[in-house]
Amino acid sequence: MKTTGGTDEQKRRAAERAVEAVEDGMVVGLGTGSTTAFAIRAIGDLVADGLDVRGVPTSFASRELARECGIPLVDLDEVDVIDLAIDGADQVETTDGALVKGGGAAHAREKVVDAFADRFLVVADPSKTAETLSHPIPVEVLPSARSTVAATVTDLGGDPTLRRAEKKDGPVVTDNGNLVLDCDFGTIDDPNSLATSLSKMPGVVEHGIFAGLAETVYVGTDDGVDSIE
Ligand code: 5RP
Repeated sequence: MKTTGGTDEQKRRAAERAVEAVEDGMVVGLGTGSTTAFAIRAIGDLVADGLDVRGVPTSFASRELARECGIPLVDLDEVDVIDLAIDGADQVETTDGALVKGGGAAHAREKVVDAFADRFLVVADPSKTAETLSHPIPVEVLPSARSTVAATVTDLGGDPTLRRAEKKDGPVVTDNGNLVLDCDFGTIDDPNSLATSLSKMPGVVEHGIFAGLAETVYVGTDDGVDSIE
């Protein structure tokens, strides 16, 4: 699984703090990535101790891990409520908690689950925080719309790059059968406005700007956990 600049210890601390919010009877959205993996394992431990929790996975990878950890799973369309979602981020704006997500190409399902949840907690490490977002925005596109979306992103001032698979030839294909354009817009002063522009582009399935969704971002450090509300 993809790893980033933070240490495993930092990620584990953030994840375990978020898992403190998991209660008996809850339906919990299970995000994707190396930081959330610590949360999924910690939820697995709670289930092993007898807690009644059902998980809604956001990707094939999180489904596989949750199964390994013994967490009963349920599909998004089988639940009326998600009490809590725990998910990672590629960058976190420290002023208001706007996020860039999609490093694992799972942001379309993640956004549905995270936005639907009553509470959305983010788990991160200090390498992810920034005063202003500047991380390239992952944009999931219909395969046939790859060129048209890339042209429109360029017109908007972005620099799109087709995401390629690390270990084999060819592009990354999402769990939904689509492609990902990583779109570099430099410093993003107004994430909401960029989010609106990207959402309007025909052929865009979902983009990785998560603005106004997170309740709390837990940032694991070397000696504790910081919170961004
Ligand atoms: C997947 C995501 C991940 O949550 C994000 O990439 C962070 O991953 P990690 O915890 O491995 O750094 O958005 O689509």
